[in-house]
Amino acid sequence: MTVSLEIVEDPARGCAALMVGAAIAQGDIVLTGGSTPRAAYRYFVEAVDSVGVDLRQTTFWVGDERCVDPDDDRSNYKMIKESLLDPLGDRAPRFERMKGELGPEAGAADYERALREAGGPAFDLLLLGIGSDGHCASLFPGQATLNERERLVVGVPQAGLEPFVPRISLTLPALASAGRIVFLATGTSKADAVSRAFGPDAEPDPQTPSSLLVPEAASISVLIDDDAASQLHFTGEPQ
Ligand code: 6PG
Repeated sequence: MTVSLEIVEDPARGCAALMVGAAIAQGDIVLTGGSTPRAAYRYFVEAVDSVGVDLRQTTFWVGDERCVDPDDDRSNYKMIKESLLDPLGDRAPRFERMKGELGPEAGAADYERALREAGGPAFDLLLLGIGSDGHCASLFPGQATLNERERLVVGVPQAGLEPFVPRISLTLPALASAGRIVFLATGTSKADAVSRAFGPDAEPDPQTPSSLLVPEAASISVLIDDDAASQLHFTGEPQ
């Protein structure tokens, strides 16, 4: 298992490049919600335009969803549709949408069925953001969902961070099953969580759910800017 911390000026560009690589390899890509990935999705569309990547053998999945209608401004699907699927148009690959409108339990069961019917999970590249509380997908600090080891998808009755709506989320084993996980984080608001999850003194801790992936995942790349890296102190540096 390897964790590579990559402090770069524009993490979204690096994320888009990894998406292009996975798409060229005709792999399955798990998209993340939130706001940070918008830029990465835009760069990906630009790359598909310039390189002419054939996406017909790729499937897009998603790591989590808010239990709202798909046209609600809080919907991850709405963000993905606007920044990725609509710009790709008829070149867009198959996208397995999490149906947030079904509610947490029915929505989770629906997505688990879709995953298993597709023979999954067989994720080649899995994108994640990290919350300022250290959550990833919709796995929040101290919640029982962190202990789920059998199911691939769970309902989350209460979100631990805004938007405070019920959620649907892939579980830790489903996330960890990916060939490669890419965390994307920018800004000082993520610096503490990045340090607690991936820093030199980090330990797996249910209070920082992202840290729980470190011992389980095959490969984690953490793409961060200087601000998100600002609380990472390696030995020999002034504390
Ligand atoms: C969600 C996301 C969530 C997100 C982090 C970071 O549904 O909110 O999947 O896990 O990745 O909260 O969000 P930002 O990119 O908006 O900071």
